[in-house]
Amino acid sequence: MSTANLPPAGTPADDEGFRRRAGALLRSAAGDLRRTSRSAAADLGLTHADYAAHLAPEQGFSWDLAQRAATVWPLNERDLVPVRNDCPRGVRVLRATESASSARVFQRGGIDYYEYRATAMSRLASFRPAWIRMLSVVTDDDPHNADVHWNNGHMLYQFTYCVGPVNYYCRWNGRDHVLRMNTGDSIWGLPFSPHTFTARNAEEPAYVLALTYGGELMGDAQHELAALGPDTARGFALDTDSAAAAQGRLLRSYLDASALPLEHAAELSGIPAGRLAGVADGGTTLTPDEVTALAAALRLSPRDLLPVVPDAVDGVSFCPAATSRSWYHPSAGHRDYRVRELAGDRLHPHTRALEIHPQRADSDSADQAVTPLRTHQHQYLHNVGGGPVRMAWQHGGERYETVLEPGASAYVTPFVRAEFTRSGRGDPTDPTRLLALRIGGRVTTEARSALGSMYPGSLERCLHEDRQWYEERGTGGRRT
Ligand SMILES: [Fe+2]
Repeated sequence: MSTANLPPAGTPADDEGFRRRAGALLRSAAGDLRRTSRSAAADLGLTHADYAAHLAPEQGFSWDLAQRAATVWPLNERDLVPVRNDCPRGVRVLRATESASSARVFQRGGIDYYEYRATAMSRLASFRPAWIRMLSVVTDDDPHNADVHWNNGHMLYQFTYCVGPVNYYCRWNGRDHVLRMNTGDSIWGLPFSPHTFTARNAEEPAYVLALTYGGELMGDAQHELAALGPDTARGFALDTDSAAAAQGRLLRSYLDASALPLEHAAELSGIPAGRLAGVADGGTTLTPDEVTALAAALRLSPRDLLPVVPDAVDGVSFCPAATSRSWYHPSAGHRDYRVRELAGDRLHPHTRALEIHPQRADSDSADQAVTPLRTHQHQYLHNVGGGPVRMAWQHGGERYETVLEPGASAYVTPFVRAEFTRSGRGDPTDPTRLLALRIGGRVTTEARSALGSMYPGSLERCLHEDRQWYEERGTGGRRT
């Protein structure tokens, strides 16, 4: 059991791993371009020995080399830059004192508007969370009150958890909306919708956890779309206002991709041509049986033909604490945790926001093991309750533990098994609880299927390519 070896915040740990991944990326990129190590070295103006040194973990990444490679080869510098792993023990904690000492106040319209504090973050996930206290106090719900100063919106999705009497203002299609929020209420919002917050009184604490995250647009998709330009980007955008419109666009995309006339698709699937044309025009949706038949005819999975329509109304999905769903985990008869569901949206099936109330005290957990929680998602935790929570987890064959005091936050890598118990006496008026926001990363469902369907035994090579794509000495007469 280890308690004291959490990596300090801000340290770019994992330098050796970073260099090793840089060498593997270079080897993989050269192989993709059908370059042997000697021909790659010649392209890059290096001796064979110098090129080989770049593949080795002792040397690793070089900006000069990445720029030269992007000049002579049809790839981008970023294709050769690995991700940094600043979370080698699976969990990264930011203490309440560190969060408080990061406080900074920004003004809007000449008044102190928000106090921002840092919370846990990692280079491995797209979370950009902030603790934000509302300093502008209003006595009405007027979105045009002189002390309400809106932002311009931002590309990140935003899940917001509210503590105290907070007004949330949001704009969608030119209309302004105000939601009167209180402790435990949560809201999920779409990108670029302008919004802002105020406090409804100055006596009580009024703050939010604004847990912004990148979603599927940030990163590779954004880079590709920015280079292709807005006309092409508009071609990609699926209309999510109606299921019929979205399904029609999907169907048209697959017919175009296969250069398959609609009438021929109708014949192959057994769906009448007139009916299929109605679907392709966005006038109606396929029945479940038609989805199955059409998917088989087009050699797709049925899910590829199913449209995605967000739950959001006017750009937000609001979840009041009073009407949210809750349950016990692992079961109603075995209550290690009470779980309360927070705001989310069908658009993001891999985003889940939860309040987790540990039911067991660490003093009684020796009698019976506490059920570990585990998820495929990246996870952000924040102690929003009145009592400390002990967190114990397994990673890399080791067991660690720490105590998350009120105001502490943590980032947890996917598949870490973590147990939570109440630690010591909490505030009897403020239940001990963690806010958990879990998000999907770059390993989408499609990527998970790809990982699972490769040539058996190839997973390690996918992560760290360790060989050229063929043996120069040949394999004739022997099995490799
Ligand atoms: Fe925001």
